[in-house]
Amino acid sequence: MKTNKNLVLIGMMGSGKSTLGRLIAKKLGLVFIDVDHKIELIEKVSVSKIFKKHGERYFRMIEEKISSQILKESSKSVISLGGGAFLNKKIQDLVLKKNISFWLKWKNTSIIKRLKNFDKRPVLKDMNNEQIINLINQRSKTYSKADYIIECDSLIKSEIIEKIIQIYETN
Ligand code: S3P
Repeated sequence: MKTNKNLVLIGMMGSGKSTLGRLIAKKLGLVFIDVDHKIELIEKVSVSKIFKKHGERYFRMIEEKISSQILKESSKSVISLGGGAFLNKKIQDLVLKKNISFWLKWKNTSIIKRLKNFDKRPVLKDMNNEQIINLINQRSKTYSKADYIIECDSLIKSEIIEKIIQIYETN
């Protein structure tokens, strides 16, 4: 492996960023950083509680600060961003500057099926399926700026992992 760059996973809630990120890091022997988990450790409270107590604006502010810090300070790590983080221009610019980024792309219907625990997903709390699909379509334009798009629907988990590792290793 030649690169010192981070491997960054982006995409909607439920796209598997944390699960796949952890497995990819393990396979590559790299450090894994789940940004939402880091936020929860630093704030000593869950992401849902931050939304409930302080609202989305406050969460986005913390998300910008902690994601930026992690992206600036890390190298050769696997980083899973929160689903909304890449929509933030500052975070997006940092990701695109010196990392290898992958959008875990799924069909809208697959994302809906994969989103099980709505309690843990404050952004979707009051949304129906149509509104969620609108959100996915809206975000997809931005997600598509990632360096690589992984079409996940036709692959099994191990194939997604292999594909990402293969691309990362040839960079
Ligand atoms: C969000 C996704 C969540 C978390 C927060 C907001 C979003 O992360 O950051 O609830 O706006 O898409 P996951 O994508 O890891 O669920």
